[in-house]
Order: sequence, then C-alpha cells, then structure tokens
Amino acid sequence: MTRPTQGRISTNALRHNLRLIRSRLRKETRVMGVVKANCYGHEASICLPILCDAGIDIFGVATIGEAETLRQLGLDRRIVLLTTPFFSERSAFVTLDIEPLISDIETAQWLSATAEAAGKVLRAHIYIDTGMTRNGAKPEDAAHLTEKVASLPGLHIQGLSSHFATSESLDRSFALRQSATFDQVYRELCGTGWTFEDVHIANSGGILNFPEAHYTLVRPGLSLYGYHPLEELQATSGLEPVMSVKTAVSSLSKVPAKTSISYGRRYFTEHDSVIATLPIGYGDGIMRLLTGKLDVLIAGKPFPVVGTICMDEVMVNLGSNDSGTKVGEEVILIGRSGEMQITAWDIASRIGTIPYEITTAIANRLPRVIAEGSEEGVETELNHAQQGTIE
Ligand SMILES: Cc1ncc(COP(=O)(O)O)c(C=O)c1O
Repeated sequence: MTRPTQGRISTNALRHNLRLIRSRLRKETRVMGVVKANCYGHEASICLPILCDAGIDIFGVATIGEAETLRQLGLDRRIVLLTTPFFSERSAFVTLDIEPLISDIETAQWLSATAEAAGKVLRAHIYIDTGMTRNGAKPEDAAHLTEKVASLPGLHIQGLSSHFATSESLDRSFALRQSATFDQVYRELCGTGWTFEDVHIANSGGILNFPEAHYTLVRPGLSLYGYHPLEELQATSGLEPVMSVKTAVSSLSKVPAKTSISYGRRYFTEHDSVIATLPIGYGDGIMRLLTGKLDVLIAGKPFPVVGTICMDEVMVNLGSNDSGTKVGEEVILIGRSGEMQITAWDIASRIGTIPYEITTAIANRLPRVIAEGSEEGVETELNHAQQGTIE
C-alpha cells in the first residue's frame, strides 16, 4: 500500500528545465548536473536516468556517500566532488573514480599518492576562490598551485573552476568582479601554456544572468529542479517545478468556535469550523517553523494549516460552511490544483528562506514517485542496468 503522502517527481518538467538551460548556452558549453543532496530532494534514482538519457555525462555531488549512491545506481559517468576532499576519504576517490576540486598543494599531494599507489590517474580541477570565501586557492596562488599539481603523477589537470556568491542577485557588481577575477586567472594560466578542458564557474544564477561566464561547462542545480534562484523571476522564468508534495485528508471533525487546535493551544477557531487532519508533518520536512504560515490546496482552493505543526500530522481549517471535502481527498502542499499553484518559493519566502532548503528538507520518509503522465520517460539505459531500484 502506498502512503498518500508523497513527493511526485515530474520527469517531463526535469527534461523541460534542462532543455531551457541548454537553450541559454553556446553549443559547445556542456552541463554538469548538480545532483547533491539526493538531487535537491528530488530522488537520484528517478532523476539520474532522465539526466543521463538527456546526454549529461558529468555530475556534481557534495559528499563521498552521494558519489557512492550514484555508483550503486549504476552510473558510469564522471562525478566531481564539489566540496573539500577529506584525507580520511582518500581511497574512495580512486575506488569510485571521483574528481576532486583542488584548493591546496597538500591535498593534491595525498590524492596523487593515493591514486599512484593504485596505479590510477585522477582527473582534478584547480579551484580558485574569487569571492565566495568557502574554499579555493587565492587567485595570486593559482599559477603556483597549477604548476605543482601538474607535476604530480597521480593527478591530471582536467579543469579550472570557481563559484559565484551572488550570481542570482539583481545587483550584478560583486558577481562581475568575481567573473573578472576568474577570467584574469584563466587568461594568465593559458598565457603560460596551461590548458583546461573544463572551465567552470556558473551555477544557476551564473547561467541565467552571466552568459559571459559560461566558459566550457556550467553547473546548474536549482534551475534543473524548476526554480529560478531569484523569487521575483520565478513566474516568468519558464522553469517548471519538478516536485509536487501531496497528501490526503485522513479525518474530518466539526468543532465549535473557540476550540483550540493542536499542541500548545496556539490557535483557536473563530467560528464553528470543519477541521481536516492530514498525515504530513515536520517528520516529513514540513518545518514546525511554518506553523501559522502554511496553506494547502484542496480541489483548487487554498485553506490555512492551523495550530502547531506536529511531527506526523497537521490540521487545516476548511471554514464554517461544508466545503464538500471528503476523507481521502487529495491535498496539495507544493504543486498545482485547478488554477492554483503553490511553489517551494511561496513556502520559503514565508519563513525567510530559499527553495533549496524547502525541497532538500522533504524527508526520505516521503516516498518519491514518478508523476502521472511522465512514466514513459523512465525506460532508460541506466534503469535497465538497475532494475528494481526505481520505485
Ligand atoms: C560548487 C557548486 N556548484 C554549483 C552549485 C549549483 O548551484 P545552483 O543550485 O544555484 O544552480 C552548487 C550549489 O550550491 C555548488 O555548491
């Protein structure tokens, strides 16, 4: 039996978003699919085959565990670790064939030694900090680092990379500075004879706002999953949210005015009301912080979630008139119902966060299923290799 509380993944929307991203690129610019955090909560076993089928052959992850999952799903394409390598995880780079971002010589040395001992050569990307101040070598150290890495027998310099801090912002000034710094480093290194197959700095904001920073490879995450990194541009972006979150009414109760609802008695009905209970809560990733700030859609109409959000359930006030809602009726938390739509941006902005946090918070407890109407797309090469891994 399938729990009615589900994340529904539209493979058509995923394909559409990738097409839209590619339409912004020069023909020769390639796409790294950023699939960290289980594809931003969208389920790697569903998204990966779609992205592979669409021709993506480089994937970005944040942890060794994520890379391992991709390999277990049968992925035999390139994987880049987008965070700093840990010494304790060094052997995994070789066994799982993971490409590191290199910010310092010491890391390059122990990665090279590990690869060499296994008789392998790892592709590596020189990583420059142009203003994110998270990791990366200082621009003035780029030439020295590149020279040292090039001398290591276990590493092959595959790429030059950096990361934007404000590429989504309407204020373009800092991103332009980062882009100029990166470009200068790139030109200087090329000027001294170094070549890089993969030159990459652009995340979704960089792809959408800085065409001059596309270089040979871009790294979209959020936009693949249907969100523009700036809320104001979501509606006109043409991007389609990939995940809907839906549940169903589990029970209905008629209560008089001044009845308290849920833990802590933080909400009281004003009028006689019909209260619906839904089997979804903060244990599913609907944060308790959303208490008093969340709406749901039932039969194309919005209704407020009332009272404190519980771990496994929430209550909805259907109003004083009989809305005709029945037990078992579908309820949408993220997605479309009739003419109405709730996006992860709508939820995020109510609690001062971003859609990245909303979709990655959707818990594993919520099964991800392929949305109706897009099933035909999942018959892929990777699927056949991995029968039984896709729900
Ligand atoms: C290094 C790196 N590249 C690319 C991305 C993708 O960014 P976005 O989801 O904004 O497209 C991320 C995500 O945070 C990242 O950390």
